Amino acid sequence: MNPLGHLFCSTIGRKVIMAVTGIVLIGFVIGHLVGNLQVFEEPDRINGYAQFLHTLGPVLWVMRITLLVCAGLHIWAATVLTIEDRKARGAVDYRTKTWIQATLSSRYMRWTGYVVLAFVIYHLAQFTLGSVQSASYKENLPEYTMNADYHVMGIPVVHAGTHVHDVRSMVILGFSQPIVAFFYIFAVGLLSLHLLHGAQSLFQTLGLRNSSWGKALRAIVTLACLAYFLGNLAIPGAVLTGHLKLNPASASSTP
Ligand code: HEM
Repeated sequence: MNPLGHLFCSTIGRKVIMAVTGIVLIGFVIGHLVGNLQVFEEPDRINGYAQFLHTLGPVLWVMRITLLVCAGLHIWAATVLTIEDRKARGAVDYRTKTWIQATLSSRYMRWTGYVVLAFVIYHLAQFTLGSVQSASYKENLPEYTMNADYHVMGIPVVHAGTHVHDVRSMVILGFSQPIVAFFYIFAVGLLSLHLLHGAQSLFQTLGLRNSSWGKALRAIVTLACLAYFLGNLAIPGAVLTGHLKLNPASASSTP
């Protein structure tokens, strides 16, 4: 069998697909969080950043398609591995409820995965398509005029005076509805748990986890997932507690 066929058709190949696509998805969620945390700085930062991403045009689409393909492959490999696992356990007498560790963690990975998927669909509808609030929500958000240049690696990529989409207000308005904010917190909590197990599994699959540093790896991954959760919690949390507010110009002209 050719190497590509082996990758897709063998159990170990599918585990490698899960691990590699998992790394890409982890890279995205960390990068996305770092970008989002700019909401705590002056409005120029996150609005300039979002504008910069949109000006990437075809590059942005390559990134989006890569992400979509990775998410699709990740879900496909997880589904096939689960079906295989069920078949392999067919002989086991389930009436005895043999709650072995592997079964528990794969169930927990599956359910946290479902919730994260539902969250991403909702999230895209809310922030990328702007279709959750009202039909005219995104169009009616005030435009924002950049006060200063936005730089990437020292290069000005969005210039002062440019009219940009007011992403900062969009996020704050979105999270000012407590039900939305709590749903985000719940979903990123489950995502963090998904990452806690997933990150360790991927080290195992890639042969990078062994008994000598297994404990240290667990501690590092746990701390990283906790930091990831707190970083995500900070944004809806700050809106709910009134620490993150609309800038006065947006507040007065928002429908
Ligand atoms: C507090 C948490 C979060 C905030 C404030 C937030 C904010 C945003 C915003 C404002 C956008 C739209 C950007 C634009 O159209 O200019 C966006 C897009 C997106 N977010 Fe989030 N996000 C959060 C968490 C997450 C998480 C946890 C995931 C993944 C599990 C995620 C996945 C995405 C994806 C896939 C997009 C679409 C990117 C694109 O258009 O190419 N977000 N997010």
